[in-house]
Amino acid sequence: MKIALANILSKDAVPVFLLHEGGATRKHQFFKLLAKDDRNHITAFLKKSPPKADCSHLIFMPSKREALLLGVAAKDKFSHRKAFLAARRIVSLARSEKLKHIAVSLDGFLAPGFLGTTEALAEALATQVEIANFEFVKYKTAPQWGWFFVDQISVLVKKHSPQIAQALARGKIIGEEINSARTISNTPGGDMTPIKLAEAAVRAGENCKFKVSILNEKEIRRLGMGGIIGVSRGSTERPRFIIMEHLKGGKNEKPVVLVGKGVTFDTGGLNIKEDEHMSEMHMDMSGGAAVIHILSALSRLKTKKNVIGIVPAVENMPSGSSYHPGDLLKTMSGKTIEVLNTDAEGRVILADALEYSKKYKPRLVVDIATLTGAAVVALGQRASALFTTSEDLERALRSTGEQTGDFVWPLPLWEEYEEDIKGTFGDVANIGKTRYGGAVTAAAFLWQFIKDSSAGSDIVIPWVHIDIAPRMTSIEGDYLAKGAAGAAIALLVKFLRES
Ligand code: BES
Ligand code: ZN
Ligand code: ZN
Repeated sequence: MKIALANILSKDAVPVFLLHEGGATRKHQFFKLLAKDDRNHITAFLKKSPPKADCSHLIFMPSKREALLLGVAAKDKFSHRKAFLAARRIVSLARSEKLKHIAVSLDGFLAPGFLGTTEALAEALATQVEIANFEFVKYKTAPQWGWFFVDQISVLVKKHSPQIAQALARGKIIGEEINSARTISNTPGGDMTPIKLAEAAVRAGENCKFKVSILNEKEIRRLGMGGIIGVSRGSTERPRFIIMEHLKGGKNEKPVVLVGKGVTFDTGGLNIKEDEHMSEMHMDMSGGAAVIHILSALSRLKTKKNVIGIVPAVENMPSGSSYHPGDLLKTMSGKTIEVLNTDAEGRVILADALEYSKKYKPRLVVDIATLTGAAVVALGQRASALFTTSEDLERALRSTGEQTGDFVWPLPLWEEYEEDIKGTFGDVANIGKTRYGGAVTAAAFLWQFIKDSSAGSDIVIPWVHIDIAPRMTSIEGDYLAKGAAGAAIALLVKFLRES
């Protein structure tokens, strides 16, 4: 979709009026750009049906031109969160009304709670409209006239500014990369195996010009990654270890390492999932897809930072060769994992990936994983769970979440929880002793593999764990297509550019 800055209302564009409940409509930037008859028509219409939050009308004006009137919350109740939703709602309405070209006024989205600059707002809005104009249709027969997507959004500003034009272009890139990650996540497990995921990373690297290396099973085994090998044993699809490098920062600048869970299908293994919970588990590689496309976005945005992406990719299947409950797996760190439940497989493969991340001497490690159903129970489906011992990182990420609409909310990472994951016959058990606080015990488990290095040194690597299970799929009212939501990409692209 073309997202273009404009200061005139072109003839083929349908103007979208964002109208506050109880607000003065005459002041809208578009009024003076319309013919007098059209203006009067809208005024008369709004007199009869004043704008109400969540109402929308597509009207025909005397000039035969259409206008989309969109009610939003009263001015004092409007927020940047509502502005993001309004942007997505506009595109969703434009898609259902088959409007090829729409025009919006940037000013309309300004809301008191937004802490960033106008450029930051333009960037965020461009991302929102781009992700709202996406639908996963690859496996569906197209309707007679083809799938409908909006072709163009003109963003009107009072004064043309190259900075805002650039911000829109950046936001569009981020939206495109989120959509590419959603495509990978939405692809059925049979078609998105570990090898295919690795190929997708290689393709992304070729397209966006960053280095990608893939380790095969033999190399994974040689590195002593018993966690990855263990989980992969039940599947005929062999594991891969994906390494991506975007090294555009200073030569001596330590990198940030991103680690993404790449379980291309999670049946639960021998602790097999009940059927109602299994059908969405082709999206259990959403953390991995996010890492691939964060690297792509950073590369396309020419971000001058050093960022490494790592994705352990496996399929978790039950079979005669599966790992068993009770197995003791030796990880790359030397620590053993006591497998008490084969469905807690994400943390097992991440244990090896986190250990591998240390070889880069990172200034920060961030892992992104659809790790626990318990995080969904704790937070619902509106924010990803955030774990870190650093108050600064917590504050920064929460604020970036607000500015991108990609929300995160903290849960505790305390040493007390380590009691819950002590192994009996191995060093660390892969599930907690009770069924309570599963998202927290999973985080405590991962922590064991980042806090001590295998060499036993006491270097503390700043670390953030983001459990994106709550935001794995979109929900009603998100104004996003069904399926993968592309969580943590907008959040981390902004965060990494600014940190
Ligand atoms: N991939 C799942 C977690 C998940 C659940 C992601 C729902 C997205 C939506 C993970 O591997 C898993 O199965 N976790 C178990 C852990 C349990 C066995 C301790 C869970 O959450 O039930
Ligand atoms: Zn699982
Ligand atoms: Zn899983």
